[in-house]
Amino acid sequence: MLSVRAVVRGWGAAVPARVVTNADLAADMDTSDEWIRARTGIRQRHIAGDGEYTSDLAAEAAGRALERAGLGPGDVDLIVVATSTPDHTFPATATAVQRKLGCGIGVAFDVQAVCAGFPYAVTVADQFLRLGQASTALVIGAETFSRLMDWSDRGTAVLFGDGAGALVLSAEADAADRGVLGCYLGADGRYYDDLFVDGGPSTTSTTGYLRMNGQEVFRQAVAMLSMSVIEALARAGHDLADLDWIVPHQANRRIIDAVGKRLRVPTEKVIVTVDRHANTSAASIPLALDLAAADGRLRAGNLIALTAMGGGFTWGGVVLRW
Ligand code: UT7
Repeated sequence: MLSVRAVVRGWGAAVPARVVTNADLAADMDTSDEWIRARTGIRQRHIAGDGEYTSDLAAEAAGRALERAGLGPGDVDLIVVATSTPDHTFPATATAVQRKLGCGIGVAFDVQAVCAGFPYAVTVADQFLRLGQASTALVIGAETFSRLMDWSDRGTAVLFGDGAGALVLSAEADAADRGVLGCYLGADGRYYDDLFVDGGPSTTSTTGYLRMNGQEVFRQAVAMLSMSVIEALARAGHDLADLDWIVPHQANRRIIDAVGKRLRVPTEKVIVTVDRHANTSAASIPLALDLAAADGRLRAGNLIALTAMGGGFTWGGVVLRW
C-alpha cells in the first residue's frame, strides 16, 4: 500500500530588526542581566516595531520557506498559522498571509494552542495532506508576544520575544519513512488560570496582558515536554535512541535541560535558541529549526522530535524525518 506523508520541502524564519538585550530591559525595570541569564538562559529578544504585525513576520518567514522549496505562492492550497497574537480578532492571520504572499484560493485558518501551537498546526496540516484534502501546506508559527506584556511585571516581561518560522509540507505518495511520522497532542483545561491573558473580545473587550503562575508552568512543562516526545515517538514507531535531534519549545534553558536529563538525551542532541530569541511562543520551534538547518546541524534524513507545551495547558509532540 502506498503511504502518503507530509514531507518537509522548505523552511524559513523572520525576526524583527530591533534587538532588546537584558541590559536594555534592566535600564527600565528592576531586573538584571545576571538574573535573567541564570534563571532563563535568555540574553536577548527581538521586538516588533510600530506597524510591524504578526502577519508581516509570518509572510516573510513563509516567503523564505517557499523559496527554499522552489515553489511559488500559487502552489499553496493550505495555510495554517499557529498564533495567539493575531493581527486582529478576526479574520484569521492566515488569510492576511495568503493576501500578502499572493496565494490563490485555498484553505487558510489559525490554530490557537499558545506555546504548543506549532505541534498542533503541524498535526492539523499533516491530516489534511495525508487525507488528500490539500497538496502543499504552509505551516507557520508567528507571534508578537511583546504586545501582551505588562511591562510593569518583571516576572513575565523579560521572558518573551517576537518572531516567526515556517515549514512547507507537501503530500508525497510512497514516502514511508519520510516527513511527519507521528503526532501526539493533549490539553487539560484545569490549568486554564495558570497561564492566560486577562483580556479578550468576549470578556473585557481589551487585549489584556499575559498572566502566569511561573512555578506551576515550570513544573508541568518538564513533565509534558518529556511525555510528548515519548508519545510522538511511539506513534512514529521509533524510540529515543533513533533520534538525531530534539527541538523543544524555547521557554527557559532550565526547562530544556531538565527535559534532556529526564529523557537521558545528551545536551548536544537538544537544539537551544532561547538565548537569542527568548520565548516566542508558537514561533519558537520553527525559529529553532531554521537556525539549526542554517548552521548545518540539522541535515536531510535526520530524525527529529518537536515538543511543546503552553497555556491551557496544551502540549504536543511531532516526530519527523527532515
Ligand atoms: O511557554 C510556556 C510559558 N512559560 C514558561 O515556560 C515559564 C515557566 N516558568 C519559569 O521559567 C520560571 O518560573 C520563571 C523564569 C518565570 C521564574 O523563575 P523562578 O526561579 O521560578 O523564580 P521565582 O518566580 O521563584 O522568583 C524568584 C525571585 C523573586 O524574588 P523573591 O520573592 O525571592 O525576593 C522574584 O520577585 O526572583 C524575583 N524576580 C526577578 N528578579 C529580577 C522575578 N522576576 C525577576 C526579574 N528580575 N525579571
